[in-house]
Amino acid sequence: MINIAVDGPAGAGKSYLAKEIARRLGYIYVDTGALYRAVAYCVTEKGIDPSDSEAVIKLLPSVDVSLSYAEDGTQHVYLSGKDVSAEIRMPNISMAASVVSAIPEVRAFLLDLQRNMAKTNNVVMDGRDIGTVILPNADVKIFLCANEKARAKRRYLELTAKGVETTLEAVESEMFTRDKNDSTRKVAPAVAALDAVILDNSELDREGTVEAALAIIRSKIS
Ligand code: DC
Repeated sequence: MINIAVDGPAGAGKSYLAKEIARRLGYIYVDTGALYRAVAYCVTEKGIDPSDSEAVIKLLPSVDVSLSYAEDGTQHVYLSGKDVSAEIRMPNISMAASVVSAIPEVRAFLLDLQRNMAKTNNVVMDGRDIGTVILPNADVKIFLCANEKARAKRRYLELTAKGVETTLEAVESEMFTRDKNDSTRKVAPAVAALDAVILDNSELDREGTVEAALAIIRSKIS
């Protein structure tokens, strides 16, 4: 199986890039952030504070999270059989996902699901620790980044296009707090693997980013 890891901070365009590469190569796109978001959604639905590690850990055995794919390759995430793909995109869930993802037991809980996907499929997997922890032997590792202004603007446009009412300042502040959490946590911090290729797309549009990533992939696998 061919495994391609795409890691990087929020708003760098990982999901578009990974989805597009997967489509062009005929691989499966795995959005691992959706798994942490699903756990966070379950935690908040139960009225649990995401930073109450003990309560979150206690809840885990009853969390039934699964993935499935539509014909067009779109990933859907389920909680006990209910499709929660839209609900998990809300800004409060982004922050809650960042908080629960720092709990080692939550990461361990989601590990096998991610590794099994990669064992049985050619995948493009997007996340924070794919190249470092989940798939350390991935065939290709791309760490996608962009400057803070560019990332905040992209995320703002994405949210407002979905009808979410917010401001650029609010998105900036939420995003930077989350990135700081994600990159400085003790377990599996969001950092580039030593053998990852760093792709800074601050000055690239979406197609330019896809082309650059495909060139990296071609250089690694024939
Ligand atoms: O990619 P995303 O924004 O949907 O991810 C939501 C949160 O989940 C992110 O702030 C950190 C966490 N996450 C993680 O810790 N490891 C991953 N592989 C993917 C996401």
